Amino acid sequence: MSGATDEEEGSIVRFPDHFIQEVVDRTDIEELIGRYVSLKRAGSNLVGRCPFHSEKTPSFSVSPTKKMFFCFGCHAGGSAITFVQKMENLDFPDAVEFLANRAGVPLPMESEAGQKKEGVSRKRVLEMNLAAAKFYRACLFDPNLGGEGMRYFRQQRRMSEATIKHFGLGFAPNNFYSLTNHMHSLGYTDEELIAACLCGKSQKTGKTYDYFRNRVMFPIIDPSGNVVAFGGRVMDDSKPKYLNSSDTPAFKKSRHLFALNFAKNCCAERMILCEGYMDVIALHAAGFEYAVATLGTAITPEHARVFSKYTQKVIISYDADDAGQNAANKAMRVLGEVGMEVRVLKLSGAKDPDEFIVKFGPDRFRQALEQSRTGFDHKSEKILSSYDLSIGSEKLKASNALCTLIAEYWSAVEREIYLAQAAKALDLPVEALKNTVEQLRRKHQRARTEQESREAQSTLKNYGDRINPEAVKDVRAASAEETVLGLLLIFEEYRNAVEKGDIALGASDFVTSFHRRVFESIMERHRSEGGFRFELLGADYTPDEIGRIQKMEVTRQQLTQNGPEVFRSAVAVLRQAKSDEDHQEDDIRAHLDRLREKRSRLHKGKVDTK
Ligand code: UTP
Ligand code: MN
Repeated sequence: MSGATDEEEGSIVRFPDHFIQEVVDRTDIEELIGRYVSLKRAGSNLVGRCPFHSEKTPSFSVSPTKKMFFCFGCHAGGSAITFVQKMENLDFPDAVEFLANRAGVPLPMESEAGQKKEGVSRKRVLEMNLAAAKFYRACLFDPNLGGEGMRYFRQQRRMSEATIKHFGLGFAPNNFYSLTNHMHSLGYTDEELIAACLCGKSQKTGKTYDYFRNRVMFPIIDPSGNVVAFGGRVMDDSKPKYLNSSDTPAFKKSRHLFALNFAKNCCAERMILCEGYMDVIALHAAGFEYAVATLGTAITPEHARVFSKYTQKVIISYDADDAGQNAANKAMRVLGEVGMEVRVLKLSGAKDPDEFIVKFGPDRFRQALEQSRTGFDHKSEKILSSYDLSIGSEKLKASNALCTLIAEYWSAVEREIYLAQAAKALDLPVEALKNTVEQLRRKHQRARTEQESREAQSTLKNYGDRINPEAVKDVRAASAEETVLGLLLIFEEYRNAVEKGDIALGASDFVTSFHRRVFESIMERHRSEGGFRFELLGADYTPDEIGRIQKMEVTRQQLTQNGPEVFRSAVAVLRQAKSDEDHQEDDIRAHLDRLREKRSRLHKGKVDTK
């Protein structure tokens, strides 16, 4: 809702500290994160591949004892609450509520939690989506309303009633207000319906109207069973063919996959990735219940990370046209980047898997699946067919192209396999190709390292540090501040020493305002009744800021020198920096004073001469 005053915004939900702590204490962080990331034990910690950036080697770590997570690659980090905020795209209060529901901790009374915040929550959007899905389904099964939709599914798409029910398919009537009126009768407001992307608002009349009309409806259900969004298809050739929900507090199209809710239970060691809703439905109906599709978008790294949580092997089954094959090449790369084993299926005689099943039946599809080829086969075939290998210079070009392709593979085993294949195809010794590949890899590695360091430097120079933009002004002081804060986060002794004045350190000693704010929060939390608890900082910082704060703690933990002398000398650097800054200011002021004096003397001189 717009028009919230500052005062109203100030009263967003603020759960009591003891409640937040109980939620965190009752949450098994290993189990929570384990639902999104495959974790392996490594000493007292668990490690896995970070769900917040694409990587092949695990740099994401979870500490069950400290109840914290941290990624050494992208520096995401924090408590279970921060994890849920980032993973489920929730704000702090909603993430606390999410975990409270999971852990069975009753929410505090409304009055204690304060007013519910402005805007529409994810929970509310899910409720609305479920009501809408039921409405669309009822319309489909009502012959007066949904006869045309039912005929489309049954006759044109040859779906069984069981399939229609299984996927919860529905029909949006050809009317501007059917869903709107129904949802109003359930007590949902216009603002809520618009936020859930179920309705639009007419620019002309200002009236709220149904977003999906005269379309067959596909609910999109997440792996936890929530209806997160909808897709709607026209029943003829009009445009746009499909209409999909935009992103809402419950849906991100760059992350959700259609039918993953079914595919994940199928426990297949592999999954099939298709382009369309109809492909997935046809495959499931034919017994391939491990097919999924993205939703009106190409596959993103975020999809890949979600996907890799559920399966390690993917068979891409995109449309047979050029667009589909290009998209398949891109998907191979995106999925390969998260370490998944990717194969590609090329269907001939049909434009997509749906049509293939209709024309040739499930058995032929199963055969095609068994013959699906690795990305390497797919690409190398294209290379080999574009050169005439009987001509020396062409063969050299083909060999270079293949070596370049092989050099991109991260796994040594894969490279060995493909080298052998390439050597055979080109009729050249493996060793010769292997040398070329290794040379290329060294060259790429150097280029990558240079590129990364250039990027890191230019980020610092041009854009500065997004979280602490003032750090560049005095790098030495900012780093001393990180030492001080890292130690304060870990050791209660230092917090006590500062609190009692044994070590003279105050907010005004901090040069950068971000670190000053962190210092104030730590000390305020330290003085509070329950003592310092990291997760309580979450209410006042963004997840990115929490990651930064967590980084200061982790960095310190990894060092062996954390004694009082380290703390004192870092404090000394701060005070020195501060006094330099003050002196600089004094210098400038003195300089200005002198200038002013000189000017006024000159001025006087002029007056005198007149
Ligand atoms: P296709 O046009 O290949 O659709 O688009 P399809 O699944 O084969 O559909 P049918 O067989 O004609 O019914 C593939 C996917 O791209 C998205 C949809 O998610 C669709 O399933 N898409 C396509 C849109 O989002 N909007 C469009 O207008 C078209
Ligand atoms: Mn199709």
